[in-house]
Amino acid sequence: MRTDTAHEHWNSEWAGLAADSKWATPEAEVLDWAMGFVPGSRVLDLGSGVGRHALALARSGHHVTALDAASEGLAEMRRKATAEGLTIAALEGPMTDLPFDTDSFDHVVSWNVIYHGDESVVRASIAEIARVLRPGGTFLGTMLSARRVPVELAKAPGREISRNTWVFEGEGDKIHPHYFCTARECLALFDGFEPLRLEDREHEKPGSWHWHLVLERCGG
Ligand SMILES: C[S@@+](CC[C@H](N)C(=O)[O-])C[C@H]1O[C@@H](n2cnc3c(N)ncnc32)[C@H](O)[C@@H]1O
Repeated sequence: MRTDTAHEHWNSEWAGLAADSKWATPEAEVLDWAMGFVPGSRVLDLGSGVGRHALALARSGHHVTALDAASEGLAEMRRKATAEGLTIAALEGPMTDLPFDTDSFDHVVSWNVIYHGDESVVRASIAEIARVLRPGGTFLGTMLSARRVPVELAKAPGREISRNTWVFEGEGDKIHPHYFCTARECLALFDGFEPLRLEDREHEKPGSWHWHLVLERCGG
């Protein structure tokens, strides 16, 4: 059974996105991280959605590539980029098989993306990030925290379909498999990276715990 199916939900979400959606505004944490970049850095926005981070990074003069499996999000990002005269290389595809050469990027951002699937999907996505990010390059991303599982179970029945991988009944993207992990599990998955920051944070909703990670690719 395929577990990397959540982009189907997001494709519908992006097709009907309200202009004032939170998904149109870049996260301050991403902007702060990018403040330290050398001008003209090569940056990958992996799972770019409607491109809020890709667009912000392109506005700052970086060479931005965006990849997502949901075509509607990429179409919206292309519309905005064209309107602003920005150049972003936009590709449709899975995060588990990136169409880029080894060491292609100085930085990779993947906000609320790589936990969409079971452990094999998560591991494949991280292996691809490690491959395309140059040694010494940085990764900023989020993962779902294991602390969140009981919070989700209080909202809707759910079942663990494989280690750490949960599906919940009801509405929203959690009818698709999501991977939840502890800090130790998270760092073990990112073997090959040096942790610069790891913090469990709630997003907008109470109990919406996410690991926020900033890591450096080893070997730089
Ligand atoms: C929660 S949204 C976040 C979008 C964007 N990173 C942001 O912060 O605005 C998750 C995104 O990951 C994409 N995605 C989910 N599974 C994917 C996969 N297997 N390959 C590529 N993209 C995927 C979805 O299509 C969606 O655009």
